[in-house]
Order: sequence, then C-alpha cells, then structure tokens
Amino acid sequence: MSPAISSAKLADALKASAQAVNVELDRLLPIGDGPERRVHEAMRYASLEGGKRLRPFLVLESAKLFHVAESAALRVACAIEMVHCYSLVHDDLPCMDDDDMRRGRPTCHKQFDEATALLAGDALLTHAFEVLALPGTHGDPAVRCELVAALAHAAGGWGMVGGQMVDLLAAELAMDVAAITRLQQMKTGRLICFAAEAGAVLGKAHPNQRQALRNYAHDLGLAFQIADDLLDVEGTAEEMGKKVGKDADAHKATFVSLLGVERARAQADMLASQAINHLDSFGDTADLLRDVARFVVERRS
Ligand code: IPE
Ligand code: IPE
Ligand code: MG
Ligand code: MG
Ligand code: MG
Repeated sequence: MSPAISSAKLADALKASAQAVNVELDRLLPIGDGPERRVHEAMRYASLEGGKRLRPFLVLESAKLFHVAESAALRVACAIEMVHCYSLVHDDLPCMDDDDMRRGRPTCHKQFDEATALLAGDALLTHAFEVLALPGTHGDPAVRCELVAALAHAAGGWGMVGGQMVDLLAAELAMDVAAITRLQQMKTGRLICFAAEAGAVLGKAHPNQRQALRNYAHDLGLAFQIADDLLDVEGTAEEMGKKVGKDADAHKATFVSLLGVERARAQADMLASQAINHLDSFGDTADLLRDVARFVVERRS
C-alpha cells in the first residue's frame, strides 16, 4: 500500500471496502448472453477494476456512524461508483479529454470503441438509479426516493455534468479563484457530498449530523480536486494510471495555474484540516473519515 496512506488502519479499511464494493458491483452489473453482452462487458471493464473507491468508502463510513446495515450501504456505495465510473468513461472520450489511459489500462473507448463506451456510460448511469430505487436499498420508499433525487441532483446539470460543461469552457473563460472553486464544487464536490451524506440519509440522522457531514464533504471535495490538479502537475503517469500534464496542455485554469503549487498545496491542507474539524461531534467513530481527509491531500494517485 502506498506510503502516502496516513495510517495502516486506513489502508486496511480502504482495501476491505474496495473488495466489498467489487463483489457487490460484480453481483449487481448485468452480464447477458445476447449481442448486448458487449455493452455489459464494457460496463464491467469500466467499473470492476482499479480506482481508489473513495466515494464508496465515504458512503460506507458515514453509514457506520448511524449503524446502517452494510448490505444497504453497499448498494448505495455501488450506485455512486457506477455514476463516477460513467463520468470517467465519458470524460475520457475524444470529444472531451481524449485520454487513452485510465486506472492503468486503456480507456473504455480504446478497449472497445467510442459508441460502446458511450453506451456503457449511459447504462452505468441508469443502472445506478435502478439499484437505489429497489427495496434492498432501504425498507422505506421515502428514503429511496430521497437518495434517487439527491444523486440525480448531484450528478446532473447543477452538479457533475454542469461542472464538466464549465470545465470544457474554462480555457476560454476568464476564471478567477471564485470561478474555479464553483467549477470544482460542481464537477467533483457534489458527488463527494452525496457520498458522505448518504449514510445520514440511510440512517435517518438528525439534521445537524447531516449538516456536519455536508460541511465535511464540502471541504473534502475541494481538497480532493486541488490534489487532482496538483497531481496533474507533479504526479507521474505510472503512479496515477492516467496521463499527467493534461490541464496545462489544454491551457485550463486550475487552482495550481492560478495560485501556484505551494499556495495550492497549502489551500488543500487547510481544507483537509477544516473538513476534519466538522466531524468533532462524532467522536472516535469518525476516525477513518478524519484519516481519509488527510489521505486525499497526501495521495500520490
Ligand atoms: C478522478 O477521480 C476524476 C476526478 C473527479 C478528479 P478519482 O481520483 O477518484 O479516480 P479513481 O476512481 O480513483 O480512478
Ligand atoms: C473529471 O475531471 C471529473 C469528472 C467529473 C469525470 P478530470 O478530467 O480532471 O479528471 P481526470 O484527471 O481525467 O481523472
Ligand atoms: Mg475532464
Ligand atoms: Mg479528464
Ligand atoms: Mg484532472
């Protein structure tokens, strides 16, 4: 495990949750016998191997705070990972970032073809909502509806997709730190917020506890994206499993291009500390959520 992972306990916990998510994803994803099997294989290719599985980890750990059944939390963890993987498949397409490597392997459109990758992304996105809507996710249909609406809002035009639109336009827009912050919050932050809040939704937690997790995730999401931008400058393709130097090549304004490496790093560290402070009311049970905030800014991949 990478030395950047701040505690052995966190490394073990990340590994265990990633394994549980892989088993559940394998169970949930379709695999047919007809010619449509090709899109099923592409969905599996894009989601079953690799990745830090940060968003599922946030779902599982926030669910533990409220003693939610693991089987329910795992379904939500898989749903958010499906949406995340779909976003990566589409992000890598030639019409977007045009990338050839993802998670140390050829991107989905390189392994299959563009049309199949597009469809695999579509199907991962829609399958996530099917998983959330089915009774195994929660006995109370109102909770399932709330999760569906929250994930749709986080992933759609006001969230990740909206952020991706601004990201594509960023090279032509005059982006200051406030504009970049807004872009990153939409592109990356909203899904991370959904993940951290999902445990509180499943556990019907007190609104104050939900708010604390939202505040935590708000700062964590921003710290995470600053780290991604820093790694695009400082990381290696080998460690990252994807091409680096892409933001500068695309003349994209990022925290790093606006603030420089040192100030961007200081900002990420400050946000991680701030995220941790929001967990004060949870006591020791939130220790892994605290550790993962440090991991997010110290990671090398
Ligand atoms: C990469 O996300 C895309 C961004 C939102 C910056 P991750 O860094 O979480 O990618 P994986 O899931 O570990 O591959
Ligand atoms: C992608 O951001 C974020 C998504 C919503 C998919 P990037 O384009 O910076 O992600 P990488 O660097 O390709 O992983
Ligand atoms: Mg992109
Ligand atoms: Mg990209
Ligand atoms: Mg990036």
